[in-house]
Amino acid sequence: MAFNDAMGTDVAEVQDACRLAGLTRTYGKGAAMHHALADIDLSIAPNEFFTLLGPSGCGKTTLLRLIGGFDQPTGGQIVIFGRDVAGLPPEDRPVNTVFQHYALFPHLTVAQNIGFALRMLGRPKAESAATVARMVALVGLEGMEERKPDQLSGGQRQRVALARALAPSPKILLLDEPLSALDAKLRQRMRSELKALQRETGIAFVFVTHDQDEALAMSDRIAVMQGGRIQQIGRPEEIYETPANRFVADFIGGANLIPARNGPNGAEAAGLGVIPADGRPGEAVTLAIRPERLGLVAGPSRQAGDLGPLRVAERVYMGNELSFRLEGAEVPLHVTLPRGGLRGAQDFAPGDQVWLRPEPGALRVLTS
Ligand SMILES: Nc1ncnc2c1ncn2[C@@H]1O[C@H](COP(=O)(O)OP(=O)(O)OP(=O)(O)O)[C@@H](O)[C@H]1O
Ligand SMILES: [Mg+2]
Repeated sequence: MAFNDAMGTDVAEVQDACRLAGLTRTYGKGAAMHHALADIDLSIAPNEFFTLLGPSGCGKTTLLRLIGGFDQPTGGQIVIFGRDVAGLPPEDRPVNTVFQHYALFPHLTVAQNIGFALRMLGRPKAESAATVARMVALVGLEGMEERKPDQLSGGQRQRVALARALAPSPKILLLDEPLSALDAKLRQRMRSELKALQRETGIAFVFVTHDQDEALAMSDRIAVMQGGRIQQIGRPEEIYETPANRFVADFIGGANLIPARNGPNGAEAAGLGVIPADGRPGEAVTLAIRPERLGLVAGPSRQAGDLGPLRVAERVYMGNELSFRLEGAEVPLHVTLPRGGLRGAQDFAPGDQVWLRPEPGALRVLTS
């Protein structure tokens, strides 16, 4: 491939599969101009499962289209395996894409669909046949080579789309919500299949989703996006346990977000008291804590550090856990307790007076 030749052999050190610097894409002019992407900086490792996660319209597809070469940036740089790809058409980039609305060729068989790009590239027949057989085995479609797409289930069609994208041996596979057309159960199964496929191929996957569970379950790292900007990049644990700001805390997993103000002894929150914290006095902050990292105690069991008093407004039985809504702070607070677990030893009813007991280190003070 021309791309590999151009890279030469002197690039010995491990490179990023993809590096984006100041990448920007605007639409419109003058007052009507808006940023689909603003100043994106990130690096993706050669064998990484990297996920772009964010709400509809945050710029995920735009970013993939720029990496794939289907659209041109208005600013910034895209470097793929050490090479600036500005101006390179999609077919000259070592990248392939599985689109949001993938379309198989309905008149071609599974094997012909998977081998399509290889034929276009003019690969020798025997080599192509061997690659197709390898791809069919990789996605577990043995015995279905001669079927047409309308003789396949949704999940099988999705596997054909994946095999077709992997057949020309891209070094980076871009996947734009590839599971969104599937029902919930199949989606769940395809998650592990996709993850296994990434491990087996050893290439970089850049996976787009607006489903936080999917992102947490599959990714080596996640970039959380909003409004064309990256809000945080990190491993799933980092994003979930130490969200960088209110948006991330709220978008991933849902957190209690409590308005507070830094005072002389810590952050002061109406109805909750003072929470030890560093910070500029007078600064408005947000306390963030997950519903599952709070315990509930009644008056007689109170200890220093418990927050309250609050009142139980609602108790919802959810099978494996109990969910409580509490009133008395500036915003309603949510607590989930595992049933029968250590923390869930005591139950409460609407009207009960309770105090919150945050797990050590679970309360985060956010300044943005
Ligand atoms: N051709 C275009 N002209 C003008 N604005 C566009 C164009 N394409 C995309 N946009 C805008 O750019 C922003 C990002 O769009 P993009 O398709 O990247 O979002 P997304 O994160 O993929 O959303 P979704 O989850 O709905 O697929 C949106 O505000 C969108 O309206
Ligand atoms: Mg999209």
